[in-house]
Amino acid sequence: MKTFSGAGSIKALARECDAAGGRNLLLVTDPGVVRAGIVERVRAMVGGHVAAVFDAVPQDSGLGVVAAAAAAGRSAGADAVLSVGGGSVIDTGKGVSLMLGLDLPATALPGINHLRGRPAFHAVVPTTAGTGSEATDVAVLRDERTTAKVFVVDRLVVPDVAVLDPEMTLSLPPALTASTAFDALAHAIEAFTSRLANPATDLHALEAIRLIAACLPRALADGGDRAAREGLLVAAHLAGHAIAGARVGLVHAMSHALTARYGTPHGSANAVLLPHVARWNGAVPATHARFARIAVALAPGGGAEPPAGIDAAAEVAERVAALLAATGQPTTLAGLGVPAGAPEECAAGALADVSLLTNPRRPDGPGDIEALYRVAWR
Ligand SMILES: [Fe+2]
Repeated sequence: MKTFSGAGSIKALARECDAAGGRNLLLVTDPGVVRAGIVERVRAMVGGHVAAVFDAVPQDSGLGVVAAAAAAGRSAGADAVLSVGGGSVIDTGKGVSLMLGLDLPATALPGINHLRGRPAFHAVVPTTAGTGSEATDVAVLRDERTTAKVFVVDRLVVPDVAVLDPEMTLSLPPALTASTAFDALAHAIEAFTSRLANPATDLHALEAIRLIAACLPRALADGGDRAAREGLLVAAHLAGHAIAGARVGLVHAMSHALTARYGTPHGSANAVLLPHVARWNGAVPATHARFARIAVALAPGGGAEPPAGIDAAAEVAERVAALLAATGQPTTLAGLGVPAGAPEECAAGALADVSLLTNPRRPDGPGDIEALYRVAWR
């Protein structure tokens, strides 16, 4: 994949489309992005290439939406996809790119490494700085017939071009800026402590952590701070690269269960859970050196490693909790409207979640997870 970043980097889009053969683009987006005037600005850059616009992607997109968008693209003669939006839009665009290129029905997409062929050219302009989906090999969609989440995991899912232009995120409100940044922070911390972590994912993850700690307070203080907005976009993108290689962990397993049952926003749930899971994972001696490096990355201006003998995971937990508290966003699951019965109701779901496979510590059973939900609740 090719990445462009910086204010005005959106200009690279037309050039990249030309280089890809002067394609006819299906622009995939959602009504909020249209209302924010972003689609209009992107069209001004690639207008001649846009064959059709599909702007009906919902919050939690699904296979039926992918099929409808691909049909709109086909009837307009589109042979390439431009996704402009957040995670749901990007994951929809990934599905459309596969459907157009591989000539498959949407229902044939879910699975792991089973796709063959060449997907349609796919360029992505993220309008939130969180999921990093533009960098990953995964599309998470819903099967509307069963309401279950389905996953398309394949190297063919990775888009061709990502344009990280902070001009596209300037209008993000503070609450969304914070919750999406904490999703990216959870990606980076979980990738850095993952069982699959390697030197390449480590580089991406640590830089993402450093950028979020440095840029989130600035972007919240002044939403128009382009340098801070760019820092968050780049952080989310790097964290996306990190999880594409190292995957996530228990924070995501637990937040997936909360979102499935109560619709709790993903980034907000991750933000609340992160400090508690960090402390719990810190009981594994092999994580100590890793948490010490995360603590440095989280310190304003880079700081020193916690002195030997200090619990580095607890230090990370405190720094993450302080970062969250400073955003003014809820710091407990109760504050997010999660009911008191959640620990019992969600523990089994979290225990069965695939994200747990790469977590550095294995729970002994649902009781461990219940206990973690309980401390995060109040
Ligand atoms: Fe996430």
